Amino acid sequence: DWTPDSFVEETVEAIKEKVGTDKVVLGLSGGVDSTVAAVLLNKAIGRNLYCIFVNNGLLRKNEFESVLNQYEGMGLNVKGVDASGRFLDALAGIEDPEKKRKAIGNAFIEVFDDEAHKLEDVKWLAQGTIYPDVIESVSATGGPSATIKSHHNVGGLPDFMKLKIVEPLRAIFKDEVRRVGATLGIDPELLGRHPFPGPGLGIRILGDITAEKVRMLQEVDAIFINGLKESGLYDRVWQAGAMLLPVNSVGVMGDERTYEKCVALRAVESTDGMTADWVNLPYEFLQKVSNDIINKVKGVNRVVYDISSKPPATIEWE
Ligand code: XMP
Repeated sequence: DWTPDSFVEETVEAIKEKVGTDKVVLGLSGGVDSTVAAVLLNKAIGRNLYCIFVNNGLLRKNEFESVLNQYEGMGLNVKGVDASGRFLDALAGIEDPEKKRKAIGNAFIEVFDDEAHKLEDVKWLAQGTIYPDVIESVSATGGPSATIKSHHNVGGLPDFMKLKIVEPLRAIFKDEVRRVGATLGIDPELLGRHPFPGPGLGIRILGDITAEKVRMLQEVDAIFINGLKESGLYDRVWQAGAMLLPVNSVGVMGDERTYEKCVALRAVESTDGMTADWVNLPYEFLQKVSNDIINKVKGVNRVVYDISSKPPATIEWE
């Protein structure tokens, strides 16, 4: 019978046997999967695990600093690399969603590779790949869906790195990953975090990306997510976030007409992200969040709520 305890025990042994005294490098994303993978590897090989946490500048507000602190508090051997500027430069002027994903994925590989080269004698690349990632990347190789989403956390290894791969979560599902994380003593708040896409806010800013738009969306997103937490709604939602639309609309403030940005809020219920239903959030909640956003975030004068299910809509807008 599968239990988180037996999984941890067997996986730690398997990692020890596989990598021995070799050095392993792993990219942390702030998400559940890479964190659980890191803690498992840390348990197996300790200081021979080198974690790299890259700030792509497209994370949630204050996320880089707070998650990096958390990682250090967990005893992980982690280096934080702030590469925000590099990603923003790589994204300048790009509007097409797949081109954005590619630009972000390539910038990530470059930054990660620079860092990995600074470590001597690394033999392995560890990844937090889980079973649904394996399925999705396999099924995506055949048809046009190959280009639908280019997940940079699966198979995103540049040839010249020549590292062997270790993926301790390859055979298990998200809910099992969370249970393993709990057994390992990882903070329940971190384990309960909503999924967040690798390209981050980059695919929630429709159209081209600028530092100012990122700042705006980070503020909007923080108000929405903190509001969900304060209202006890966060754990009833599978994933939530905000999209900055490439639309200006007329508003009024005092005696002045405004012509400013519109944001869409999205909250969905799902089990695996393959299908999803929009969440029936209370009107009072939406009303409060909308007021907060419009009053506090300069440049936004309109908020809408996305009531589309997947399929035929997707969870993200890009
Ligand atoms: P969609 O928008 O396809 O999203 O309904 C399904 C789930 O996948 C996440 N997602 C991504 N994750 N890189 C990722 O790592 C991506 O390019 C990407 N695109 C979508 C999305 O947040 C949702 O959880």
